[in-house]
Amino acid sequence: MKTNGETVARGKASVNTQQARPTQPLFTPVQAGPFTLAHRVVMAALTRSRSEQPGDIPGDLMLEYCTQRASEGGLIISEATSISIAGRGWFGAPGMYSGEQVAGWKRITSAIHGKGGYIFSPLWHEGRSSHVSMTTAQHPWRHPSIRNTGSIPQPTLRPPMVG
Ligand SMILES: Cc1cc2nc3c(=O)[nH]c(=O)nc-3n(C[C@H](O)[C@H](O)[C@H](O)COP(=O)(O)O)c2cc1C
Repeated sequence: MKTNGETVARGKASVNTQQARPTQPLFTPVQAGPFTLAHRVVMAALTRSRSEQPGDIPGDLMLEYCTQRASEGGLIISEATSISIAGRGWFGAPGMYSGEQVAGWKRITSAIHGKGGYIFSPLWHEGRSSHVSMTTAQHPWRHPSIRNTGSIPQPTLRPPMVG
């Protein structure tokens, strides 16, 4: 398979990529609020549990992952990001409430902006889906009348693998 306007064979069909691209809505601009995206390939929020510990700090691994996926005029939705230790509910998810976390995010946003891309951050607080074992014993905020059921995944509660 060749790219850059050369003929691309896909199964029995073949298309010229330069001719085909302008007709594809996927590769046409779209307005997202004040941002003009060059194309519509938007990366969805994907928790990777790769923040540095302790501290839930966006580090080199997250920087590499996001930078690899940044593109000119493209949009990345970052993974869900905690707004406080009391809202921490997923081990390894990054936060954005400490100075170290903000500094880590600034490295990532700078790299993405450097490639001409955009990144939005969905902020989260896990509320009743969290647990005191994840929040350094701060009680997660939740409405008192709504209780949660089920379990929360975290390393300390996972049984060791056998075999
Ligand atoms: C591994 C994984 C991690 C995800 N992490 C987040 C997340 O942090 N925040 C969020 O809003 N959605 C998250 N999602 C949901 C994806 O964004 C969602 O699957 C994607 O938008 C596609 O939508 P669909 O699953 O309804 O087809 C995650 C999904 C997967 C598979």
